[in-house]
Amino acid sequence: MARHLITSAIPYINGIKHLGNLVGSQLPADLFARFQRARGNEVLFLCATDEHGTPAELAAAKAGKPVDEYCAEMWAVQAEIAKGFRMSFDHFGRSSSEQNRKLTQHFAARLADQGLIKEVTDQQVYSITDGRFLPDRYIEGTCPNCGFDSARGDQCDNCTKQLDPVDLINPYSTISGSTDLEVRDTKHLYLRQSEMKDQLNEWISSKTDWPILTTSIAKKWLNDGDGLQDRGITRDLSWGVPVKRGDEDWPGMEGKVFYVWFDAPIEYIACAKEWADANDKPDAEWERWWRTDKGADDVRYTQFMGKDNVPFHTLSFPVTILGSGEPWKLVDYIKGLNYLNYDGGQFSTSRGRGVFMDQALAILPADYWRWWLLSHAPESNDSEFTWENFQASVNKDLADVLGNFVSRVTKFCRSKFGESVPDGGTWGAPEEALIAELTTRIRAYEMHMDAMEVRKSAAELRAIWAAGNEYLQVTAPWSTFKTDPDQAAAQIRMALNLIRLYSVLSAPFIPDAYASLMSAMQTSDDTWPDDVTAALGALSIGHNFTVPEVTFRKITDDERAEWETRFSGTRDE
Ligand code: MF3
Ligand code: ZN
Repeated sequence: MARHLITSAIPYINGIKHLGNLVGSQLPADLFARFQRARGNEVLFLCATDEHGTPAELAAAKAGKPVDEYCAEMWAVQAEIAKGFRMSFDHFGRSSSEQNRKLTQHFAARLADQGLIKEVTDQQVYSITDGRFLPDRYIEGTCPNCGFDSARGDQCDNCTKQLDPVDLINPYSTISGSTDLEVRDTKHLYLRQSEMKDQLNEWISSKTDWPILTTSIAKKWLNDGDGLQDRGITRDLSWGVPVKRGDEDWPGMEGKVFYVWFDAPIEYIACAKEWADANDKPDAEWERWWRTDKGADDVRYTQFMGKDNVPFHTLSFPVTILGSGEPWKLVDYIKGLNYLNYDGGQFSTSRGRGVFMDQALAILPADYWRWWLLSHAPESNDSEFTWENFQASVNKDLADVLGNFVSRVTKFCRSKFGESVPDGGTWGAPEEALIAELTTRIRAYEMHMDAMEVRKSAAELRAIWAAGNEYLQVTAPWSTFKTDPDQAAAQIRMALNLIRLYSVLSAPFIPDAYASLMSAMQTSDDTWPDDVTAALGALSIGHNFTVPEVTFRKITDDERAEWETRFSGTRDE
């Protein structure tokens, strides 16, 4: 039995994510986790919310709530929606947890001990009225380039020029509106990543099986200059992990917190401890996933993320892990995904363009979205969501191919033989041909799923469903029945067993359909079809079933048109 540690990039706490975010990490990670469990492997699948930093502070201020309260509420909202999409996390944690605070401070201490941290004095804008340093986004003023009067400290929204807050004319604090600002010196901790360039290069070069998308981004950052410069890992904010050296105060760092991108990936580890703590398990239980000196040497660790996250996972986080000098588990495989676009443009959180996770579940059940998103996962290229394509895939793959197969077979059996697996007849050439085809396809499906080739897996699964329809086409039990009812019974016996087989194979993609088909077939036998012939005998003669409710319904043209309009504009807040 293999052991798989699986993490999905942890979504920012501020706001509900869109379908592009979902297919960029959580959903393919869930597919992989469900598949590995189905194969009998041991899995720890973790995700969390990414709660620190300026965006969280800003969103809380906008909602008129204290930031900790805002985060607690949004965590609950995101957890509920993840459940709605059937994310099978073993734990959905929070980067603001006690466990992460401790571990982040621990890593900082270790890095300092290893000589990998230096103190640097920077200049930053300080608001005397607000009594705090202002992050770039908290400062607005007149753009020196175009004269726009509410340009942000980091960028002008009017002319798009990148700015430094000290360039702004008549700058003011967006917190209080105060213009009583000054530039002050402030001390920060820098991680000396450049020291580790060779070690990282060697490590990345050893990953010959990684997707090109992942390694090319990593190598570009490593070798084209900017990527591996030493970087500041602290901020003058109040919301975050307080800067400490382990349990000790860090002289000169009072009132500062770690930068969100320093503590967020550490949450992958802390989340395992949160999981153990929440389930009253001893530390040894989470450490056997994360410490190579405590059993994690035979763990295979796979991370899922969108391509914008790749540099942080191939460079920054490995620097933290390797630099600590402690035996923490390093990632074995990074599955980086491209972007999903929305109907000729981009999904936009700020403009509310596209379909957000809560809205998606309000119009159709999770399986419909899971199937479309996974079968169109942005792997080798960016991909695009259009309502036309969504309607066509759902209606064809789910309703016509899979759903229709189930309903034809169960209804025909009920009307001619009753609601149990019929006796009579024998299997011959058509059944042998079907078993041969399914065996080849199932082995290919397993291979693609193991390799996290999401689209190829979906295509193979679709072909497996289609093989059942072709079998019905060829054998035509409804015609056979007129001349040879016994033979028709043998054909239907095959078809009923195919329903159970499809259900087991499809579960990682469409878990709700799996559950409803298993209950219709009145079985809990979810044995993986290592032996296809045996799998097709699982429901034996006389086994009872019921005709399931409509497994998948079709999307009408009217619905499509209505949704197209509804989601093109601005999301109502
Ligand atoms: N919150 C980040 C994003 O959505 C991802 C953080 S992943 C982690 O882009 F590694 F930092 F945890
Ligand atoms: Zn401008």
